Amino acid sequence: MSSIPLKGKPYDEILNDMESFRTQDADFLGGRTWSLVYHLSQKHDAFLKKAHNLYFSENALNPMAFKSLKRFEHEVVKMAAGLLNGDENVVGTMTSGGTESCLLAVMAYRELARSKKRWGKVRPEMIAPESVHVAWGKAAKYFNVKMVNIPLKDDFTVDIDILKKKINKNTIMITASAPSYPHGVIDPIEEIGHIACEKKIPFHVDACLGGFFLPFMEQIGYLIPAFDFQCKGVTSISADVHKYGFGAKGASILLYKNMAYLKHQFFIHQNWPGGVFASPALLGTRPGGPIAAGWAAMNAMGLNGYQHMAKKVMATTKKLINGINCLQGLKVMGKPQMSVFAYGSTNDKIDIFAVGDVMENKGWHIDRLQRPEGLHAMVTPGHEAVADQYLLDLKDALEFVKDHPDLASKGNAAMYGMIANVPFRGLIKKEVGKMMEKMYGPDCEMPMDNPGKESLPVRIGTGILKWISKRTK
Ligand SMILES: Cc1ncc(COP(=O)(O)O)c(C=O)c1O
Repeated sequence: MSSIPLKGKPYDEILNDMESFRTQDADFLGGRTWSLVYHLSQKHDAFLKKAHNLYFSENALNPMAFKSLKRFEHEVVKMAAGLLNGDENVVGTMTSGGTESCLLAVMAYRELARSKKRWGKVRPEMIAPESVHVAWGKAAKYFNVKMVNIPLKDDFTVDIDILKKKINKNTIMITASAPSYPHGVIDPIEEIGHIACEKKIPFHVDACLGGFFLPFMEQIGYLIPAFDFQCKGVTSISADVHKYGFGAKGASILLYKNMAYLKHQFFIHQNWPGGVFASPALLGTRPGGPIAAGWAAMNAMGLNGYQHMAKKVMATTKKLINGINCLQGLKVMGKPQMSVFAYGSTNDKIDIFAVGDVMENKGWHIDRLQRPEGLHAMVTPGHEAVADQYLLDLKDALEFVKDHPDLASKGNAAMYGMIANVPFRGLIKKEVGKMMEKMYGPDCEMPMDNPGKESLPVRIGTGILKWISKRTK
């Protein structure tokens, strides 16, 4: 369909078409996805949809017009502040997701530094572990802040000694994860907080993943290192309602220690012909649905619901981690502290990306990690029912790869391997850029439209190979 139909179609016909388009999508309801979707149950989804639909048209841009949305946002912020051990001064806003929370924190801290004239003609810098979510790199790029990435130690937490040395007069903020997306480990938040305090630098804890999980683990008896406002020096925290908060997509919370920080996030324009304009976050129009559904989710779950969810998810996580560690040739990386982990190969003869390919052929949707190479899992309640099957399939996949070592040099595995290891990192960026231009170009070249065509990694890898062969001729 490339133009608006001359005559509008019946609603039913359109909805049927839309249903049919879903057949090629990843099967999250069957527990086949290990990222992207946080699904609690069909019943909870039906409830969220009702809550979302009640506020389908409302716009939180103007809190005077929709006071109910302002009330939801305020209560969500207060509930989250309490959960994360904030005092009565903690303030914040809801955002459209983890990425918006990260973007806004960088922008607010840059503005704060500017207000204190903390940097002159040089570029402001932010300090973050290499494992920090890529949204921070995006924020650095958008707001022209230099990203200073700190290497990880063997346990995948940030190297504090190096972090300390990288602080200079241009540093406008530090961020660290609780936990990190790739390996599920919590950075040493208390130690970093002390450094931040001593150097008087704002410190953000990215708890987009852990904000609605770690506190409940603690409540059911797990030993969790302090990672929130309890830690001296923490000035802001992000926690995603649309992840383990089990709200609808489009909802995160960004909390600041007090208004002295949050005020730098606000945008006010007093001279616009359209009127005096004030906006608390990145978006103009702020959809009411995700805010309302976030509030509804937190009230429906209650502490008991979240604790029950954490218990169930951790039991499944333990089963998976133990199962994987029992398979000869595979090992979980580091010591994951939550329900997110990665595993790699301990044997040169087993290519982990080939294992990933076989698993994909068996219908599992698994993310590939690089540096070091691995497969990733983000465990949710729906995985309880499929954990045994996953482990059985993984065992089979492992045996198959052991018997067919040539798989490592074929198809996706070969290309993922090359993408992970090719020294010309700029080249990868260029090839991926070309892919995106095709996907978002006038012909919208999607893998879906060309089922016979090579997969994304193969196409990127082929481009890189062509480039290398041209230059080595
Ligand atoms: C730790 C962390 N921070 C930020 C984000 C970005 O969140 P979103 O995808 O909601 O924008 C993620 C996403 O997984 C994450 O795990």
